[in-house]
Amino acid sequence: MDQERLLRELGEFLRIPSVSTLPAHNQDCRAAAEWVAAELRRLGCHDVAFLGSDTHPVVWAKGPEVPGAPTLLIYGHYDVQPPDPLAEWTTPPFEPTQRDGKLYARGSADDKGQVFCLLKAIDSANPRVNFRFLIEGEEEYGSKVLFDLIQREPQRVRADAVVVADMSYVAPGWPAVYTTLRGLCYAEITVRTSKTDLHSGEYGGAAPNAHEELARLLTRLKGTDGKINIPGFYSAVKHPSKAELAAWKKLPFNEKDFLNKRVQGKALVGLKQYSVLERLWALPTFEIHGILGGFTGEGAKTVIPAAATAKVSMRLVPNQKLATVERQLAAAVKRLAPKHVTAGVRFLHGADPAQIKVDSLAFKLLDQAFKKVTGRGTVPARAGGSIPVVPALASAGAPVILTGIGLPDDRLHAPNEKLDLKQLWDGIKVFRTFYELLGAQRHM
Ligand code: BES
Ligand code: MN
Ligand code: MN
Repeated sequence: MDQERLLRELGEFLRIPSVSTLPAHNQDCRAAAEWVAAELRRLGCHDVAFLGSDTHPVVWAKGPEVPGAPTLLIYGHYDVQPPDPLAEWTTPPFEPTQRDGKLYARGSADDKGQVFCLLKAIDSANPRVNFRFLIEGEEEYGSKVLFDLIQREPQRVRADAVVVADMSYVAPGWPAVYTTLRGLCYAEITVRTSKTDLHSGEYGGAAPNAHEELARLLTRLKGTDGKINIPGFYSAVKHPSKAELAAWKKLPFNEKDFLNKRVQGKALVGLKQYSVLERLWALPTFEIHGILGGFTGEGAKTVIPAAATAKVSMRLVPNQKLATVERQLAAAVKRLAPKHVTAGVRFLHGADPAQIKVDSLAFKLLDQAFKKVTGRGTVPARAGGSIPVVPALASAGAPVILTGIGLPDDRLHAPNEKLDLKQLWDGIKVFRTFYELLGAQRHM
């Protein structure tokens, strides 16, 4: 492997600030799509196409036709999360930098570095596989464009197997395949208490305060014990089997290390009667991402805010349904808000949770590939995060392999996101081996 050339090429990809949720970066998203398309053409793909959107197109391509060989669909995303807070980056997010065997950049692990592995593994192997590619640009914003595309043209996702490399090992040296992904319901809750802001001296003591009302509403929605008080919210939750819980106990996961090395806080919270892995993998959540409104500028201003908005999201687990949870949240907000406020919910995007059986042949081959390259096969685990389109990919019938070559401390979505170079090189070898094993199959 020409590591220097590969790092230069990955560097070009990472330098493009393809932040899908910020309209100011539409051109950059388009440029990242062009980068992927050029790479696919170089791999000999014909009909490379941009589908569904001019600014955040799904990059679709077909590899060279290999009669009788299995078809593998490769999914990934070229968009990234916003890099803020910028001041906390040791080196700028879109200037990829190597330090201590790690490559620092927004998107290094999520997901450009992993897409890079999947593509570069083909380069060197030339396997007997019919490749299909769906590399989207809106994963971090709900994947609406890709959803619509799959609904309109379901034949695009027809394959013998699908591989999604957008996750990590469960611990260094422990590659994994994921049996569930959590879903997501992202919403804005807005509270209004008066027509306009009011002087807090003239009105304070008698006029309602939107921020206070919102804060109260939010703490009613989730109590100090971590329980989410949305009627019906937990009723569809399917708890893991005894066997699965026992298997998790054998994973290299330590609650104290998780607190001290990963969270780096003072204590863990949540439903204490469940293990930390159950809270992260098998239970739904309610998080407040930010609160807008009122006075947050420099200095002081004495005002009673008339309106306040919270950005919140709920992670969903099997067998919760997004549509049901949306109804439940809207009803709960209505019920919990006092009569004297106007409260409303606006839904931004969401995804159903996914559940994947990991017993088909493609999983065995990936397991062998990891074993050969890293010395250890894959362990089944669950993922706390979401990839909105996975249920749609799975509904086409082919096994969807959820895996990844990152590490748990890659700091996805956070400052100083990184990818360990060893993971990158091993990743290319693992996927190359996987493609070769797959190509040796006559029947899938
Ligand atoms: N790669 C992540 C999903 C992920 C992270 C899965 C960690 C498993 C473990 C993906 O890019 C992501 O961040 N998805 C978003 C989706 C959302 C914005 C619709 C997420 O989970 O917040
Ligand atoms: Mn991702
Ligand atoms: Mn992400």
